Amino acid sequence: MNDDLTPGIFLPVLKTRYMGREYKYFHSIDSTNNEARKAAISGGSEGLVIAAETQTSGRGRLGRSWVTPEYTSIAFSLILKPDMKPCDSAGLALVMGTAVCRALRKAAHLDAGVKWPNDIIVSGKKVCGILTEMDAYGDHINYIVAGVGINVNVDKFPDDLKDKASSIKLEAGRSIPRYVVLASVLMEFEVLYGCFKSKGFGSIVDEFKSMSVTLGKDVSVSSASERFEGRAVDITADGLLVVRLNDGSERKVISGDVSVRGVNGYL
Ligand code: BTN
Repeated sequence: MNDDLTPGIFLPVLKTRYMGREYKYFHSIDSTNNEARKAAISGGSEGLVIAAETQTSGRGRLGRSWVTPEYTSIAFSLILKPDMKPCDSAGLALVMGTAVCRALRKAAHLDAGVKWPNDIIVSGKKVCGILTEMDAYGDHINYIVAGVGINVNVDKFPDDLKDKASSIKLEAGRSIPRYVVLASVLMEFEVLYGCFKSKGFGSIVDEFKSMSVTLGKDVSVSSASERFEGRAVDITADGLLVVRLNDGSERKVISGDVSVRGVNGYL
């Protein structure tokens, strides 16, 4: 199977209007998010995609690292320059989560779900992570970089990850070309991002909720300053997670680490 992310293979299958039409491909790079930030600062336009076969310092959320196995996974970062206030952009990471879920459902027929805010989960295991980073000045967004790591055809995970992480191939039982997955994510994202920009996250929240593996579950929330437990009862029109505590009070979570209680302990 020709499973290539080089421009010559990838661009002919891309059906978007502008997402990914400007495409920079690297074999190895420190982090596609770092490269995208540099490109955004030096004038890179909305829709520019930086993709790499592997990363030497891939970054995850909350200061974690992210491993990109060469030739079997996807690491890409997308530059966005939405004309909105920084405080209105919070739902953007969730929009990307929705796009990845849609793409995995359509391209690989997987029952993919989202663990709030944006881990993509199949059969209780994480197959994709998303890291969005923003640069803003006052009320103006200079740029947002949406970085996405997808385990596509990865066959094996290290012992410490194998109960928590999986790949599209392991879950679907067959390999799928990475360029198909990337093109499909960008296509779905372009449509959803259009809705997000014109009508806000509220226009997508019902679909997001329908794909959520967090809603209705007992969760444990930890942030830099606190930790609490409760039941995830809602996701607001601006993308916040509403958690009901044992005393009946409700807390809205903006960011942080949310673990969901499932059959095998917390995910
Ligand atoms: C997470 O789940 O913690 C987020 C992982 C995000 C990984 C992607 S891979 C492409 C981009 N470059 C990075 O360094 N990180 C993101």
